[in-house]
Amino acid sequence: MRVDESTDSTARVVCKDLRDWIERSRELGQVRIVEGASWRRDIGMATEVLQHADNAPAVIFDSIPDYPQGYRVLVNCFGSLQRIALALGLPTTASAQDLVQEWRAKLHSLVPIPPTYVHDGPILENVHMGDDVDVFEFPTPLWHDEDGGRFIGTGSMDITIDPDEGWVNCGTYRVMIHDRKTVGFYISPGKHGRIQRQKHFDRNEPCPVVVVTGADPALYLAACAETPYGLSELDWAGGVKGAPMEVIRGRVTGLPIPAHAEIALEGYAYPGETHNEGPFGEWTGYYASASRTEPLIQVKAVYHRNDPIIYGAPPSKPPNEQARYRAFMRSAHLREDIEKAGVPDVVGVWCHPVGGSRLLLAVSIKQRYPGHARQAGHVAAMCHAGAFLGRYVIVVDEDIDPTDLEEVIWAMCTRADPAGAIDIIPRAWSSPLDPAIHKDKKGFNSRAIIDACRPYEWKDEFPIVNEPGPEMKKLARERWGYLTKPL
Ligand SMILES: Cc1cc2nc3c(=O)[nH]c(=O)nc-3n(C[C@H](O)[C@H](O)[C@H](O)COP(=O)(O)O)c2cc1C
Repeated sequence: MRVDESTDSTARVVCKDLRDWIERSRELGQVRIVEGASWRRDIGMATEVLQHADNAPAVIFDSIPDYPQGYRVLVNCFGSLQRIALALGLPTTASAQDLVQEWRAKLHSLVPIPPTYVHDGPILENVHMGDDVDVFEFPTPLWHDEDGGRFIGTGSMDITIDPDEGWVNCGTYRVMIHDRKTVGFYISPGKHGRIQRQKHFDRNEPCPVVVVTGADPALYLAACAETPYGLSELDWAGGVKGAPMEVIRGRVTGLPIPAHAEIALEGYAYPGETHNEGPFGEWTGYYASASRTEPLIQVKAVYHRNDPIIYGAPPSKPPNEQARYRAFMRSAHLREDIEKAGVPDVVGVWCHPVGGSRLLLAVSIKQRYPGHARQAGHVAAMCHAGAFLGRYVIVVDEDIDPTDLEEVIWAMCTRADPAGAIDIIPRAWSSPLDPAIHKDKKGFNSRAIIDACRPYEWKDEFPIVNEPGPEMKKLARERWGYLTKPL
């Protein structure tokens, strides 16, 4: 562990790897250990409960029946702001809004640092090649009752390389076990790993892949965030941590493998080789993409630390753990993208967890000119952080707190007359996971940009709000607040 200059309570801790992060979280009193829970049912059930509770601890399941003690599963990593802050090197004392600001500031100043290749590392404590490969070695849970199999890749990342441009992508794309040596991976159309994979297939060449579970939390958060196309998450996470990620060179593919990760599966996806994948309980809260054929990875090598940890982040109906931490990160990314596109006077942005942090975006602006609100809404809907599987963007004035769902909906109900306030963008970027699109029509969906600002032309004549000002509110609370207490 490294601590930046300051040693006060707002110190930014930079964790070395997942185990260091677990230790720091344990010191905060936020890690529980559960023994004897089954991979078939208990771990999935417990995770469902944990992910839907605010500030629930991270839980490590150990002594899992059918598996050696020490082979563990970790869930609900980012169920508290402090544990997110710890992963990203932000102050663990910050409030939610402060964290968004801190994260934005970090994104602004972030200088990517490429990884360093090392010859040894904990990931090499156990290496199985060829006939010794057995993906069932690990206690992968059956996460939800209706799942079509065991998904070892949930809180994981798949490492691929662009055959034309040479850059390495790390993306969190689910991975299902088919048999001892074969797994399947689902990547949504348009995602960077899918573009890279297709480039290999278009050349009729196998696509080298490494699946990592139990990566450094900063790297994992990079892998499931909308980092720019062409920028490796390894470099990005190095920049976030202020030091290069250490990687070893994969013995089969030559791909970089994080030296401190818990488990890595290395192999190839071959053009035309597919197998039924899914169904899997998805982040929208449905089984919307059912079971389809998807590419396979023939696993040629398995690497793992002693007493390895699977990091599990199974999707569930939002709002849940993942939607909450992604809301916080994606809101910062979205604001960056909107401002970079030249939209002035953005006051706040929030990707609401109830929409899985994708389907409902709120942007507040101080209106400066005619068309400003529509510009903000359209950019939010179509920029990199907002484009994939969105649905509604609501643009509100600066007096509305975009994080407050009731305020946003009140503004929409009272300032937006539907006939003129809603723009529809057809044929936008969706995915097979979109529950509102019929199975034969998956691929596109539409966006509604709801301009819930006071109409620009007569905003100064708009009825005043029937609510006391902040001073009067404070006075009223002080004087009359006692009336609200139980008798
Ligand atoms: C827990 C979790 C599971 C995810 N599963 C998938 C998945 O199975 N397929 C997919 O395309 N994206 C999935 N995502 C979203 C991607 O990780 C995310 O869009 C990321 O930005 C993709 O990386 P890329 O930008 O390099 O393409 C998941 C995200 C999380 C947090």
